[in-house]
Amino acid sequence: MQPPSHVLRHGRLATLAPGAAGTGLVDDGAIVVAGGRIAWAGPDRDLPAAGGDLPITDLAGRLVTPALVDCHTHLVFGGDRAREFELRLEGATYEELARAGGGIVSTVKATRAASEDDLVAGALRRLDRLLAEGLGCVEVKSGYGLDLETELKMLRAARRLGRERNLRVRTTFLGAHAVPPEYADRADAYIDFVCGEVMPAVAAEGLADAVDAFCENIGFTPDQTRRVFEAARNLGLPVKLHAEQLTDQGGAALAASFGALSADHLEYLGADGIDAMAAAGTVAVLLPGAFYVLRETRLPPVDALRAAGVPMAIATDCNPGSSPVASILLMLNMACTLFRLTPAEALAGVTREAARALGLGGEIGTIDAGKAADLAVWDADNPADLAYWVGMNPLHARYVNGEVA
Ligand code: NIG
Ligand code: FE
Repeated sequence: MQPPSHVLRHGRLATLAPGAAGTGLVDDGAIVVAGGRIAWAGPDRDLPAAGGDLPITDLAGRLVTPALVDCHTHLVFGGDRAREFELRLEGATYEELARAGGGIVSTVKATRAASEDDLVAGALRRLDRLLAEGLGCVEVKSGYGLDLETELKMLRAARRLGRERNLRVRTTFLGAHAVPPEYADRADAYIDFVCGEVMPAVAAEGLADAVDAFCENIGFTPDQTRRVFEAARNLGLPVKLHAEQLTDQGGAALAASFGALSADHLEYLGADGIDAMAAAGTVAVLLPGAFYVLRETRLPPVDALRAAGVPMAIATDCNPGSSPVASILLMLNMACTLFRLTPAEALAGVTREAARALGLGGEIGTIDAGKAADLAVWDADNPADLAYWVGMNPLHARYVNGEVA
């Protein structure tokens, strides 16, 4: 089927065009969609005659943004960790629970036991909440399998989400998420297995768009992380990293030295890491949901990132442990209230910069001629309204490749 061609007229466009002030607002704007792509976007009064013959949708002044992008999730998993939530309320820390064999490893057990169909069904429940908030693209990580069979199962389940629903899915191989029980006290041997067996199998099946790792004192050392990155480079896969979440391991600088797409979390990021990210063009993915749920007090260095010109993205980190969050709009709010981003920065963080963090900066994330027509239309007047309210979802319509999705 030929993707639709049509014209959206009289919308308030937050184009997020790079270099434009704020959100790149066009007050009374039009978008010509041809073959699923943005053929033209600009002030309605300048609408080219070429748009004249196409079907028209009058947006009646509604706000239009690029469809939102959630660039860091662990959407596919088995079981839940509600009990851990209770234990944390009784005083246990995330770190203590992880060291006691709970945390990620407890989700590994449930994920290994789940069928691929179960994993898809569970992920769709969460994904549907995100789609209802205007999402057009989601990244999904593996990392709750930690064996060959289950890592492949998770990534296949993640890819299936893109066939079950109308959105773009990017998958990330996160074999180096935690040491599985069968490799207890043998982390280096586990990294050999990840690099020598699992990652090549994932790549051979074309199941991952990128490779990630958890560089942390309860995760993997910088040396182990480096080995994962070298294996990814040999397979031609870009990298990203869970870095500086609980301590400063120098992970962001290491990731930047491999030209990483992004370094994520970053509460404990120091000046060297910021400089390295700025030089490499590595996106800082900030995850206010995990910060909130773990009741962190150390804020990511937003002022320094801004001053250094490091692009900042925002994501849900949707996962059963540190961020049981299925709302990207809530993350917009928390990026502002907790991390002091401006509403315009937060919106760029779930559109333009999130697209960059996935290597999709040329394809989606702004309303620009040549990009895919992935759009969100809102019953809202101002871009800041999306960050301002909590528990309010003003989505009117969602377009993926120019089609109402
Ligand atoms: O991004 N930090 C490591 N990984 C996840 C948590 C996963 C879990 O607790 O299940 C995160 O926060
Ligand atoms: Fe994460």
